[in-house]
Amino acid sequence: DYFWFFVAVTSYFAGSVPFGLLTAKIVAGTDIRKVGSGNIGATNVARTLGAKWGILVLLLDALKGLLPVLFIPALFVSPDSPDFDHARVLSGVATILGHMFPIWLGFRGGKGVATSLGVILVLGPWSTLIAVGAFALTFLVTRIVALSSILAAFAFGVAQFVQLGTSAFSQQKWSLAVFSIAVPLLIIVRHWSNVGRILRGEEKKFQFGGRDKA
Ligand code: G3P
Repeated sequence: DYFWFFVAVTSYFAGSVPFGLLTAKIVAGTDIRKVGSGNIGATNVARTLGAKWGILVLLLDALKGLLPVLFIPALFVSPDSPDFDHARVLSGVATILGHMFPIWLGFRGGKGVATSLGVILVLGPWSTLIAVGAFALTFLVTRIVALSSILAAFAFGVAQFVQLGTSAFSQQKWSLAVFSIAVPLLIIVRHWSNVGRILRGEEKKFQFGGRDKA
């Protein structure tokens, strides 16, 4: 069944478009990998170029997660097929991996938060609400985006299991159950440098950069 392969590859390439890197290059001629945290995501673009460009990258990276999951599986699998849900999960994972490990950047990509947001809006909308709540609350209290992302990822996983139950593994929803553990873990691992800084008390509170600087 070649369709699994096509779903994975097309989703991976959609995810691999580095909107943060492209935006910073086009808008300011800056290599976003050489400034701030060095990450290619919306946070570092906002930190370097200001709120407006950060929000644009957040939207583009989230859409890059959302659109493949919505449309790519339907190109290859009938929505009535029992394979359809698994194809959506595969598409989501491949898109996130495309963002984290893009072939164009020597497989050194981003941390996957905005892209995953787009994916989970489709695969787990209620848990996404919980995750966004956890993010907002943590950010209000700490002003640290990385910590907010880590706790949001964790909250998403927990909320998924409250909904799915552990029996999901032996049912049609096993791939979603695996996704709900694997993606939060991936996101947390991608934040490892932030975790080190947070533990040492060196992670900076978030501030907008560029022309939006106070
Ligand atoms: O989305 C990534 C965010 O959680 C942390 O980004 O640039 O502060 O390492 P940054």
